[in-house]
Amino acid sequence: MVMAEPTNKNLAYLELDEQYVNPVLSRSARIVAERASGSWIYDMNGDAYLDMATGIAVNNVGHCHPKVVAAVQKQVAELMHTSVTTHHKPYIDLAKKLVEITPKSLDSVFLANSGAEAVEGAMKMARYITGRPGIINFRGSFHGRTIMTTALTTSKLYYREKYEPLPSSIFTVPFPYVFGSHFKNDADACVQDCLDQIEDLFHRIVSPSQVAAMIIEPVQGEGGYIVPPKGFLTALRRICDEHGILLIIDEVQSGFGRTGKMFAIEHEGIEPDIMLMAKGIAGGMPLSAFISRRELTSRWPAGRHGSTFGGNPVSCAAALATIAVLQEEKLVERSAVKGAEIMKRLREAAKKMPHVGEIRGLGMMIGIEFVDEHGKPSKYHAEKVAEKCLEHKMIVLTCGLGGQVIRLIPPLNISDADCDKALDILINAMTMK
Ligand SMILES: Cc1ncc(COP(=O)(O)O)c(C=O)c1O
Repeated sequence: MVMAEPTNKNLAYLELDEQYVNPVLSRSARIVAERASGSWIYDMNGDAYLDMATGIAVNNVGHCHPKVVAAVQKQVAELMHTSVTTHHKPYIDLAKKLVEITPKSLDSVFLANSGAEAVEGAMKMARYITGRPGIINFRGSFHGRTIMTTALTTSKLYYREKYEPLPSSIFTVPFPYVFGSHFKNDADACVQDCLDQIEDLFHRIVSPSQVAAMIIEPVQGEGGYIVPPKGFLTALRRICDEHGILLIIDEVQSGFGRTGKMFAIEHEGIEPDIMLMAKGIAGGMPLSAFISRRELTSRWPAGRHGSTFGGNPVSCAAALATIAVLQEEKLVERSAVKGAEIMKRLREAAKKMPHVGEIRGLGMMIGIEFVDEHGKPSKYHAEKVAEKCLEHKMIVLTCGLGGQVIRLIPPLNISDADCDKALDILINAMTMK
C-alpha cells in the first residue's frame, strides 16, 4: 500500500523538532527551511519567504551565493580540517585579506568559530597582556551566550538571570541611546552623561589602572539597533588612550558591509585596539575572527589560546569568496545607498503612524522602534508587525529590551524588485489595520 505524503511537511517536522530538539532553542518563524537562494527561503512545503533577517545579519551576500558555494565545494574536496597540527593556505590567505580590509593599524589575526568565541579570545588576550582584570561594557550590549559573554551582555535580564555567578570585574556604563533616554532629542547631553558616568566609575568603583579593556558594539544590535551619536566612540578612544585601556570594537553584527561601510567603525574613523568579526564574514559558514596589532599580540605567547575548529579551511574559503563578492559586486556601497532609500521610504510612510517612535540605522542595518499611546516602548506593535509580515511570507526579527524594535537586515544584494516588495509588505503591516 502506498502511504499518502503528509500534506504539510512543515508541521510533520515541527512535531519532530518538539520531540527531539532541546526546547531552550527558540526560533522566530514556525517554518522549516529546506533551501534558500538570494533573498528567499523555501520551506518544506515549497512556500517562498522573503528573508529580511538573513540568519541574524549573516547572509550579507544572499543565501547560497554561487561563488561562495563553488569555493566551499572546491575546498571541501581538497582539505577539510587539520586544526593546529599544520598551517594551511586558506587561513593565511584570509588573515592577509582581513588585514587589508580592516582599519590600518590592525595587522594580526586569530580565527575562531562564533562571535562569542571571538569575544572570549579578545577578553583573554586583553587581560593577559595588560595584567589587569577590569572590563568596561555598555548597558544594552549583546556579546554572546557563553558564560563570559553572558556576563558582558546587558541587553535583557532574560539572557543573564539564573546563570550567576558570572565572571566578575565587569563594570557596566550607559550607552548613548538618545531616543530611549530622558534626554530624548538632546544627543550631546546624552553623550556627556554617558562620559560623566565613566569618570564617576573611575572615582567610585574601579581605578582605570585596573581596567584591561572597554568593549562596545559600534551600532548596538540585539539591544535595539541603536547608533551612538557621532563623536562618542572617539571620546572613548581618548579615555582609553589616557589610561592604557584597550578599546575592543565588536563588529560581529555590524561588519562586512552591513552599515554601508566595510566596518561600522569607519563611520567614526578611529582605530580600535582589537576588533571582533563573525556573522557576515563567511556567507553563512561558521567563522569568527579578532584582529589586533602585532605589537600587542606578540605579548601573548604561543599556546596561551587556541581552537580545534577555529579557522577551518572550508569556512576560510567561504570567507575569502564572500569578501570577494562584497568587493566585486560593490555591495558595501549598495548597502549605503539602498539603506538610505529604504529609510527614506519608511520615514515617509511612518509620518502617519503615531505608534512608530523612531526609524534609525546605518546602511542596511535598520531599526524601527514602536511606542504605545504614552510614548513608551511597545512590544505589542512590533510583534503584530512581525506576525503580519510572516502572514505575507516575509521574515523579520525583533530586538530591544522589550522586543519593541523591528530590525531590517536584508541581503545587501537584494534586488530592487524584492526590496520594493519587502517594503510594501512591511509598510502595510506597520499600518496596523
Ligand atoms: C554584537 C554581537 N556580538 C557577539 C555575538 C555573538 O555571536 P555568536 O552568536 O556567533 O556567538 C552577537 C550575536 O548576535 C552579536 O550580535
